[in-house]
Amino acid sequence: MLYQNLSLSELQALAFKLGLNYQKRDIVIGLVGNLGSGKTTFAKSFAKALKIKKLKSPSFTILSVYGFQNRQLFHLDFYRLNHLSELEELGVKELLAGKNRIILIEWADKFPKILKACDLILKFKIISNNRRNVTSYNT
Ligand SMILES: Nc1ncnc2c1ncn2[C@@H]1O[C@H](COP(=O)(O)OP(=O)(O)OP(=O)(O)O)[C@@H](O)[C@H]1O
Ligand SMILES: [Mg+2]
Repeated sequence: MLYQNLSLSELQALAFKLGLNYQKRDIVIGLVGNLGSGKTTFAKSFAKALKIKKLKSPSFTILSVYGFQNRQLFHLDFYRLNHLSELEELGVKELLAGKNRIILIEWADKFPKILKACDLILKFKIISNNRRNVTSYNT
């Protein structure tokens, strides 16, 4: 599915809607696209739909976890990760095998194994200063 030329508020609305749609599912969503393309912006509005108020910018934290409805949202950012061994240290394998959780992974495409573990991949593309395209792929 291709969402074209979204403004900031349109992209936030899309993320919020997907958050509502997926809140009861154990889904892994890969967020891919260049720096500043909107991955964290998406994650924040997605989290808002789960009534998580303050999603941090995970630039320095590779992994953050938030509780909602007796479930967990994991927000991962692999921008600073370069080796699969670092994933193991973080316990990502266990996370992916877990239940009652939603996992959002920025820069999921750095590791083919991770990309394969995603149920849904959202690709963000910068069209102009304040417009983005979002393509979703069900895997
Ligand atoms: N239509 C739009 N959709 C999303 N973000 C937009 C849009 N227009 C402008 N922006 C701005 O672009 C920036 C996107 O930054 P964001 O941190 O979400 O990107 P990112 O993909 O997570 O980058 P990084 O790879 O560095 O983590 C924000 O400052 C946001 O306000
Ligand atoms: Mg980001």
